[in-house]
Amino acid sequence: MVANKHFDLTVKSPGRINLIGEHIDYNGGHVLPAAINLNITIRFKKKEGNVCHVNSKVRNGFKFNIHEKLKPKSNNHWANYVLGVIHGILKLRPKQLSAFDCEIESDLPIGSGISSSAALECGITFGLNSLFNLNLSKLEQIKIAQKAEHDFVGTKCGIMDQFAVYMGQEKKVILLNCETLKYELLDANIDPYNIVLLNTNVEHKLASSEYNNRRKECERAMEIIKSKYTDYHHLAEVPIDVIKTLENELDELVLKRAAYVSEEEKRTINASIVLQNGDIIKFGELMYASHDGLSNKYDVSCPELDFLVDYSKKHNSVIGSRMMGGGFGGCTINLIHEDYIQSYIKSISVAYKDRFNLELSSFKVSLSKGVSLIN
Ligand code: GLA
Repeated sequence: MVANKHFDLTVKSPGRINLIGEHIDYNGGHVLPAAINLNITIRFKKKEGNVCHVNSKVRNGFKFNIHEKLKPKSNNHWANYVLGVIHGILKLRPKQLSAFDCEIESDLPIGSGISSSAALECGITFGLNSLFNLNLSKLEQIKIAQKAEHDFVGTKCGIMDQFAVYMGQEKKVILLNCETLKYELLDANIDPYNIVLLNTNVEHKLASSEYNNRRKECERAMEIIKSKYTDYHHLAEVPIDVIKTLENELDELVLKRAAYVSEEEKRTINASIVLQNGDIIKFGELMYASHDGLSNKYDVSCPELDFLVDYSKKHNSVIGSRMMGGGFGGCTINLIHEDYIQSYIKSISVAYKDRFNLELSSFKVSLSKGVSLIN
C-alpha cells in the first residue's frame, strides 16, 4: 500500500453484526444490528483521463473506464460491488464523477456473514461522495449500495447491512424498522458478557441463490395472506395466529417460512425490550430461539453452525448463541462471560476441529461508529 500522503482521502468502512432479527429486513420488520471494529480501509485519489484502477491487497485488481457504460462482470467477480455503486452514483449524479484510483485493504473476513460486501459498497460510495462533493444524503448512499448488490451482484438483499454500516455508533445497537427506516440507537449493556464471533470458515456456494429463494417464498406467503387479509402489507407484521389460519392455503414449506418470520419479528421486539431492561439472560434465550427457527423453519443453517450453537448450550459461560447473517456458513454470534472467553474458544476450537477437520476463527468485537473518513 502506497503511503497515505499520495492519496486524497481515506475511508474506514466497518463490518456489521446483527444481534437478532435475521432474514427480517426484506420482510418489513425490525432488526438489531451494529457496526463493529473490523474494517475495510479504502484510499482514493483523483486523476486525469478516463481509466480508474482499483487495487486490493487480497484480491486481483481491475480497471474500468469511468466514461463508458458500466456492466456487471461475469463469474461473481468482486468488481461488481464496486462497479454497481459507481453505476448507481452516475444515475443520480451523471456529470460529477471523473477518473480516480483506489486501494483497498481489509481486516474483515470475506464471506463470513459480517457483511464485508456492504462494507465495500458503502466505503466506495461514501468515499466518492466525499472525493467529488456529490452531496448525496446518507439514505441515498445506503440505497445506492443496496441496489448495487441487487443489480450487479444478483443478491436481492434487504437494507440492514448497508444501514448499519452507515448509521452505526460506538457502544450502540440499532433498532431499525426496515419498513419505515425509523430507528433508535440502544445502549448495549451486556456486562459481564462480551460479543464473540466464531467463524466456521465455511462459505456455502448456494448462499446467494438460496437467499433469493427465501425471499420469493416470503413473497408467495404474502400474496396469499393479502388475498384473505387486506390489512397486512408485510410478512413480519402478520401475527402467528393469522398465519395458522392459512394452513390449508399455504404449502408446507411456505407456511414454515412465514411462521419463522412472524416469530422472529416478535422475538426481536422482545429482545429490544429486555435489552433495555438489562435482562441479558432472557436476551440470550431469545438468541437461541432465533437459531432454532433459522435452522428448523427457515432452513438457512448448516451442520457446522448447528454444531457451534449446540456446543455452547452445554456451557454456562455462554448465555446466547446463533448463526448470523444470510447463513449456510459464516459466523455464529455468541454472548460469552468475559472471564471464560479464552478457555471457551480453546475448547470449542478443538471440538470443531475434531468434528469437521476445520479451523475455527474467533473475534471479540466491540460496537463502533459507521463509515467515516480518516486522516
Ligand atoms: C444478508 C443480507 C441482509 C439480511 C441478512 C439476513 O446479510 O444482506 O439484507 O437479509 O442476510 O438477516
